[in-house]
This record gives sequence, C-alpha cells and structure tokens, in this order.
Amino acid sequence: MSTSPAPLLTVRDLRVVIGDSHILHGVDLDVAARGTTALLGRNGSGKTTTVRGILGLVPRTGSVLLGGEETVRLATHSLVRRGIGYAPEDRGVFATLTVAENLRLAERPGAGQPAYDLVHELFPELGQRAGQAAGTLSGGQQQMVAIARTLLNGNRLIIADEPTKGLAPKVVTEVAQVLERAAEAVPVLLVEQNLAVVRRLARHCVVLADGRTAHRGPAAELLADADAARRLLGVGRAGHDGAGPAPAGASAGPAAHPATRTEEAEV
Ligand SMILES: Nc1ncnc2c1ncn2[C@@H]1O[C@H](COP(=O)(O)OP(=O)(O)OP(=O)(O)O)[C@@H](O)[C@H]1O
Ligand SMILES: [Mg+2]
Repeated sequence: MSTSPAPLLTVRDLRVVIGDSHILHGVDLDVAARGTTALLGRNGSGKTTTVRGILGLVPRTGSVLLGGEETVRLATHSLVRRGIGYAPEDRGVFATLTVAENLRLAERPGAGQPAYDLVHELFPELGQRAGQAAGTLSGGQQQMVAIARTLLNGNRLIIADEPTKGLAPKVVTEVAQVLERAAEAVPVLLVEQNLAVVRRLARHCVVLADGRTAHRGPAAELLADADAARRLLGVGRAGHDGAGPAPAGASAGPAAHPATRTEEAEV
C-alpha cells in the first residue's frame, strides 16, 4: 500500500544449507515498521531456521535489509547491537539464575539506560519474583522473562519464536496481551502456530512451506479463507469464530507435514 511506511526488515531469497541439508530454498518476507508480522507454516517448514538465518546464527545467503542496511554478512553480535531482540523457541532462560540476574545479563552496554520501567509495567509479576530461580518459574513466567529481556535494550525489532507453545490457554492469553503491548512499542516478528493468537495480534503474515515463502499478505485475509488456510497451514477451519479445531481428517496430515496447532481458545 502506498501509504504504508517502508518495512523495517526486508528478507529476500534467504537460503540456508547446513551440512548436506538444504533447509531454506528462498525465503522472502517483510516485517512491517509497526505492529506484529506473523511467520507461519507447518512443523518443519523452516520458521526457526529463517529466524536463525536473519540473526546470523546459521550460515546464510540472500539479502537481509534492516532499516535499509544490508546485514546478511554481519555477525550475530553486530545484529544484536543494531537492535534485534530475540526470544528463542526454547526461551533460553538461565534456570539456576534468578529472574533479576537473567534480566541483568541481558543488559547491553551502550544501549542506554535499560528499560526496567517498561519491563516492570508490563510484567509486574517479574518484580515480585525477582529473587526466584528462573528454572522454578512456570512456562508462562519463563516466557515473560524471555520477552522482558528483549524489551530492556530499546531494540528496533523483537523476534519471538513460538512464545505460546506448550502453555495453558489462560497463560496463552496473558502472553498474547503482553506481546500486544510490546508491539505498540517495538515491531515484532512473531513465529506462531496458534491461529487465535495470530488473529489477535498480526496485521501481516508470511507462510513458509518446505523452506520457501508460500504466501504473504494480510493475516485476516488468510485466516478468513478456509481453503487457503487448509492448503497452507493444514487447518480445517480458520474463520472468524475461532482458530480451529481442524476436523479429524484435516489434522491427520502426512507425518512429514503435521498440521499446524490450532488451539481453540479465544485470546
Ligand atoms: N542444524 C540442522 N541440521 C540439519 N537439519 C536441520 C537443522 N536445523 C533444522 N533442520 C531441519 O530443517 C527443517 C526446518 O526446521 P525448522 O526448525 O526451521 O522448522 P520450524 O518451521 O521452525 O518447525 P517447528 O514448527 O517444528 O518449530 C526441518 O526439517 C529440520 O529437521
Ligand atoms: Mg521452530
């Protein structure tokens, strides 16, 4: 759209080869300068590898423009210094360290005063649990720590890889609320398989299939198109009345292409 600001992140023809495995064969995606962009696709389609490629955690070729600057040849630490915050798929909290220590470790020299005010506003519970070992937190609380770390340093972009995975519906809602607030401050690239969360948060979406971009467009449009959702995501129903559930036939896809998770709860 001519009125949209330029994308914050522009990825073109991203390819990743690890050993003998050709994992990404040409991923194209734009992360909007505002709000949340969802990165979708079935299990094994290459979402995490795409994120790791953007961050320079795996060898990659192609083009990754951050605010117009080519970054594909930069090392991870340079990308982090340029303001990309990452909440990885496994959350990556240090289990034996306290909440406060996990946050302190995430402070980045030269990034200005760490934004503890914002973190404590969004996550009051983390303040109450500052002295608790992170490994004893619930999954949702650990996810809060992972997201809080990305907000400390005034980042330009937050990448969150399946932040709601494995969480109870009520906690999914809490994490979605926090991400919604975070995305008001910083654009988010959200890897997500819970379509109710996508519906709530994302304006734009990118769908991967077999290591390639299979679809890009408005998230609401895809979720409203049952045929496209079934073809691209393996879900049976993605209309306005909820994210699923997929009918038995649709959810029992071939083993190599398991269906997308489709938690039903509204979030
Ligand atoms: N280091 C690696 N070496 C070899 N193959 C890999 C490596 N990392 C990922 N793969 C393979 O690449 C494919 C894409 O994996 P990736 O983790 O990016 O998928 P994903 O879309 O994030 O899946 P999920 O939804 O299960 O998290 C998978 O087939 C995976 O087995
Ligand atoms: Mg993944």
